[in-house]
Amino acid sequence: MTVHFIGAGPGAPDLLTLRGRDLIAASPVCLYAGSLVPQGVLAHCPADARIINTASLSLDEIMAEIAAAHAQGHDIARLHSGDLSVWSAMGEQLRRLRALGIPYDVTPGVPSFAAAAAALGAELTLPGLAQSVVLTRTSGRATAMPATENLAAFAATGATLAIHLSVHVLDKVIADLTPHYGADCPVAVVWRVTWPDERIVRSTLGNLQTAIGTEMERTALILVGRTIAPEDFGESRLYAGDYDRRYRPVGTDPRFPGTAE
Ligand SMILES: C[S@@+](CC[C@H](N)C(=O)[O-])C[C@H]1O[C@@H](n2cnc3c(N)ncnc32)[C@H](O)[C@@H]1O
Repeated sequence: MTVHFIGAGPGAPDLLTLRGRDLIAASPVCLYAGSLVPQGVLAHCPADARIINTASLSLDEIMAEIAAAHAQGHDIARLHSGDLSVWSAMGEQLRRLRALGIPYDVTPGVPSFAAAAAALGAELTLPGLAQSVVLTRTSGRATAMPATENLAAFAATGATLAIHLSVHVLDKVIADLTPHYGADCPVAVVWRVTWPDERIVRSTLGNLQTAIGTEMERTALILVGRTIAPEDFGESRLYAGDYDRRYRPVGTDPRFPGTAE
């Protein structure tokens, strides 16, 4: 018996890995974080599966469900939105499972920042503009930010920012970032990306509040940086015709002679 932690992706049921889908289909018990995992993903569960929405359960209650399934020898599909490596509460569950000696494995999912970038048609790392992406958030009721991890500190690097869990404090996000990126810096807010009611607002830091209007509360990701709406950036050297590389030797004295196939 194994607890399969599975990244359920940003929302669209077909943005699940094949491994994740197959594990869901093979598990007689499914625990899912109902606030962000859509019903469509649950369609992969066996017809007679025990399916439990954990949105209203405490950690103790979740562990009791897992322990009960374990005692019966049942595999469990444990679904969290996006990928499990960020803001999934997986870490505390794995720690309890290790203490109980219950086996588990982890299957990654499509994170919401990647789905939002895809919806925007944006490459978040462009030559000369940004070569780093910061996945971050602001303090919430349940989770305070470490003192050194604040938006101004990340903004000082000029990296592309993917700001989660923060659309309700958009005014503060704009105030913290504008001194570093400038009021003309491109920004996009993407609500419920890949869901049927997905909404995208593209703007600048200076105009964002006006562009958004009153819709603030639903699940959304804020992407900020010069890579979001680039006009002027360099091309990567990787595909430059004169760039001598292992798979495309160039010139009379290539750096990697005889290695191209
Ligand atoms: C608890 S975190 C979960 C993050 C998730 N593990 C991931 O990989 O994206 C929830 C936050 O992720 C972002 N998010 C998750 N799903 C989203 C979606 N479909 N559209 C836009 N933002 C999303 C929002 O910022 C939301 O407040």
